[in-house]
Amino acid sequence: MESTDVWRVRLDPWGEDDFWLLRRNNSAEMTEHLGGPETEERLAARHRRYLGLDSGRMYRVTLADTGQAVGVVGFWERTWEGAAVWETGWGVLPEFQGRGLAARAARAIVTEAAAAGSRRYLYAFPSVLHHASNAVCRKAGFELMGTADFEYPEGHWITSHVWRADLGPR
Ligand SMILES: CC(C)(COP(=O)(O)OP(=O)(O)OC[C@H]1O[C@@H](n2cnc3c(N)ncnc32)[C@H](O)[C@@H]1OP(=O)(O)O)[C@@H](O)C(=O)NCCC(=O)NCCS
Repeated sequence: MESTDVWRVRLDPWGEDDFWLLRRNNSAEMTEHLGGPETEERLAARHRRYLGLDSGRMYRVTLADTGQAVGVVGFWERTWEGAAVWETGWGVLPEFQGRGLAARAARAIVTEAAAAGSRRYLYAFPSVLHHASNAVCRKAGFELMGTADFEYPEGHWITSHVWRADLGPR
């Protein structure tokens, strides 16, 4: 049966041509809870990092029906409370926000991280002030573990909620 759900998303591995998406994600509006826009140099380094991740993976979020790019999502390694875990983050372009796309991308990235196999937990650390991103965590089935303070970027302290998705025994 043909689907009428035009907001289904697909994750495509990050590609050489996706730098424009990082540029769009780097506006004052999009980085309000992330310490503000990065310099062009840092953005280019981010692009190279996204392309070259050994462990974890970054994706372009696209609409499944049309292939139109709507955002960025991914997972990467970090150590948290002494354990090797995955961390995730997401961004949806302003003109596509408020349609449930980030929540769908977050559910999809839980599936991808689970398939990666090696680490049991996927964490997200949105600022306590970032209502939309905290709502995304809740909608995608993450469990709220508490709060933590982070210095990101350097010199800029934020208090974040600690959200965790259990990917199952490894
Ligand atoms: C956070 C972000 C990805 C949300 O994208 P989105 O596609 O609009 O999110 P969704 O449509 O899936 O909405 C998820 C939930 O957030 C809620 N929400 C969306 N915008 C909101 C806002 N401004 N204030 C409060 N809640 C909001 C929605 O209502 C929804 O919850 P509900 O279904 O329970 O009502 C998007 O705002 C963004 O890209 N921001 C800039 C980058 C960023 O900060 N990324 C997160 C880093 S931690």
